[in-house]
Amino acid sequence: MLRVASVEGPFLKVLTGQSSSPAPIWLMRQAGRYLPEYREVRSKVGSFLDLCRNPELAAEVTLQPLRRFDFDAAIVFSDILIVPHALGQRVEFVEGEGPKLEPVSDAKAVAGLKPEGAAKALAPVYETVERVTAALPESIPLIGFCGAPWTVATYMAEGSGSKDQAAARAWAYREPETFQALIDLLVEVSADHLLGQVRAGVRALQIFDSWAGSLPEDQFARWCIAPTKNLVARVKAEAPNVPVIGFPRGAGPLAERYAHETGIDAISCDTSLPLAFLKERLQSRMPVQGNLDPLLLLAGGPELDRQVKTILTILGRSPFVFNLGHGIHPETPIDHVARLVTLVKNS
Ligand code: CP3
Repeated sequence: MLRVASVEGPFLKVLTGQSSSPAPIWLMRQAGRYLPEYREVRSKVGSFLDLCRNPELAAEVTLQPLRRFDFDAAIVFSDILIVPHALGQRVEFVEGEGPKLEPVSDAKAVAGLKPEGAAKALAPVYETVERVTAALPESIPLIGFCGAPWTVATYMAEGSGSKDQAAARAWAYREPETFQALIDLLVEVSADHLLGQVRAGVRALQIFDSWAGSLPEDQFARWCIAPTKNLVARVKAEAPNVPVIGFPRGAGPLAERYAHETGIDAISCDTSLPLAFLKERLQSRMPVQGNLDPLLLLAGGPELDRQVKTILTILGRSPFVFNLGHGIHPETPIDHVARLVTLVKNS
């Protein structure tokens, strides 16, 4: 099929509420370990954070998936935990174990964080953005991102990833005022970080709330919806035309409240949400992104073809961005990604 791309390209078209056929596609974690060329760059630098803070190499790995696949957007190579690192918290990525942080779990530790140094510490990300946008055609926009205050706070409080986010949840119940101080600080620094990426050239933003699913409704309203709403309002005050995608992973039916109340422009959905819910409760009011199971992309075969078709049949005629329900699995065969892109582009 002939693609007459507008200058903006199909991804931004969809985010402004228009449908596009075929649907645009990009994948969460599209730059990463499933690509041999990523593993090669990664083996040359010391730590993962060194790679995030090296604009030349971070720009290179951002562009790698675009050279292989016909994706409609790029996402800046960085990490959500670069924000606590920029606040002066000790953050390390231990090979095979994930992130390790010096826990921040009381008022004193929050007071010890250093927001005044954050802009300088985050500057390499903005240089990465400048390098990538200079290399990309107009029709392929670059997405900037941050973690939602709640999700970043769960890592800061726990000192690592966790199954149930117990440290942050218990702190929020026990001492809501001091937990609020941490959340408020994260709203400020994350807004500055998103706006820094906008000034450097990103044309859409995504807020990753990977642990939104661990909160009951009242806590979800207070720690997920309210801070995200403040964050989006701060960004919109300065960058009203840059679309913001929210990703409240695991929120279940609360995704609907999140979509209505946070001020986001589009919602990225995880694999657990039924397609009928996406269509009727979410896509009826804003563009939807998602939600193929990353493990089905890993597995491949006829079931992959079938599910891609099902998703496109249900969601593809209204504003829709094809994506996974969570980040791509590092063991995913490259052929399966190529097959997925072909299926979506030929739909
Ligand atoms: O999507 C992209 O291609 C852009 C880059 C990106 C990374 N992390 C690179 C990365 C983005 C958008 C993220 C977001 C992120 N980081 C989230 C939110 C999305 C999600 O997955 O839920 C979270 C929770 C993190 C925190 C984080 N970073 C963890 C828990 C880990 C360890 C787990 C793992 O996969 O190793 C990381 C490391 C990380 N971030 C890697 C990459 C490519 C792998 C590290 C490596 O290459 O050594």
